Amino acid sequence: MEFVSRMTDELISYYPKARLEPMLSGATVKHGDKIERLEEVPIFDECSQRQLRSIARIARVFDALAGTMLTHAEEPGDEFFLILDGTANVDVATEKRGSLRPGAFFGEMSLLDGGPRSATIVAETPVRLLVISRRDFSVLLKDVPGLTQSLLMTLSRRVRQAEESAERMGGALAGL
Ligand code: CMP
Repeated sequence: MEFVSRMTDELISYYPKARLEPMLSGATVKHGDKIERLEEVPIFDECSQRQLRSIARIARVFDALAGTMLTHAEEPGDEFFLILDGTANVDVATEKRGSLRPGAFFGEMSLLDGGPRSATIVAETPVRLLVISRRDFSVLLKDVPGLTQSLLMTLSRRVRQAEESAERMGGALAGL
């Protein structure tokens, strides 16, 4: 199960290894502060103030410690994540697929096709994330101009990487 160690927004924190269920109170991120952070995110560049306000309403801000498993391969997942601060590592089938930096998003695949998580993502440093639930993901797609295109570009790049990796593995096996 995915887990988050501490939810900053909405006075919520989480138990490890639980789904994203609210457990306890913490500090609140003010609506205005959230909009200021959203303005710094490249994929929201084209958004109007009205659109940013709408995103701020559906997005929760969430802090996780280094080492926190943010998505777990093969498990179901119901959230879309965007990194505000810190970095996270992506592992697909035990192969490291690079590091995600501020401005990068992940978790879209399970929301788009309803399948299990395709990769394990672990916080490399303490991270601050924007989290959007499955229910609100369609609002995000509608309110963020270019997000659909950005998702398609990212998915195309990953298909190419997966094909290259499969070819490399095939080549290595053939050489045995
Ligand atoms: P999802 O399958 O919902 O959860 C795991 C996420 O990892 C996935 O969505 C993508 O956002 C991300 N992901 C999957 N494969 C890769 C990859 N090869 N490189 C970077 N991110 C990936």
